[in-house]
Amino acid sequence: MRQKIVAGNWKMNGSLVDNEALLKGVVDGTAGLKGVVCCSPYPYLFQMQKALSGTHVAWGAQNLSQYDKGAYTGEVSASMLNDFGCSYVIIGHSERRAIFGETSVMVAEKFKAAKDAGLIPILCLGETLAERESGATFAVVGEQLEAVTGFVGVEALEDAVLAYEPVWAIGTGRTATPEQAQEVHRHLRERIAHLSAEVAGHVRILYGGSVKASNAAELFAMPDIDGGLIGGASLISGDFCEICRAAA
Ligand code: PGA
Repeated sequence: MRQKIVAGNWKMNGSLVDNEALLKGVVDGTAGLKGVVCCSPYPYLFQMQKALSGTHVAWGAQNLSQYDKGAYTGEVSASMLNDFGCSYVIIGHSERRAIFGETSVMVAEKFKAAKDAGLIPILCLGETLAERESGATFAVVGEQLEAVTGFVGVEALEDAVLAYEPVWAIGTGRTATPEQAQEVHRHLRERIAHLSAEVAGHVRILYGGSVKASNAAELFAMPDIDGGLIGGASLISGDFCEICRAAA
């Protein structure tokens, strides 16, 4: 059995004051659960480390540099994330690809930088609405996946996490149906199985895109959906905790 994971992606939201209440709510409201993760903006990693150390909740960042150190103004390295106790890092979110020009090559390099530092990458994959409507969903997510497996090898996925996030479902309130999501999750697992059946059996594939307390349980009940990557609903501790419980 794959341990389900529910990871909150706070995106560019939060403040010291708000985070304190949110983190306390998550720790208290998910007591006894496994696989709970919060990913904050960089400046709050120290706060996460202080609030979550010694609890059952893990934490991480939403991006990292593909480079180790040096003259890369504005960037944050994997070893810096280690300094703040991160276990996870989101890689290749569609907002990074679309707004900040991250290419599949950069995403693969970032994935490698995370793995080399002992971080667990949460690799995001997903098609736009136009790509779905033109029947290109499998080709798009396949290309995104293979850009990474081609660079680091399929074994690197063994204890990594994938997140299927259809772009048309992110922040739109329009969730993929459990069947739509399952179809893509199964396709991803089959693609991985062509390279390694063992890795395919172990890799966690999360669904992301307008997951809410009201739809989480039916999504997480699908055989190839191993939890969720949660944006908007991760900012409201009651909602996020309910989603975590739906994965238990
Ligand atoms: P959403 O975001 O839950 O607000 O749709 C998910 C994500 O972008 O990871």
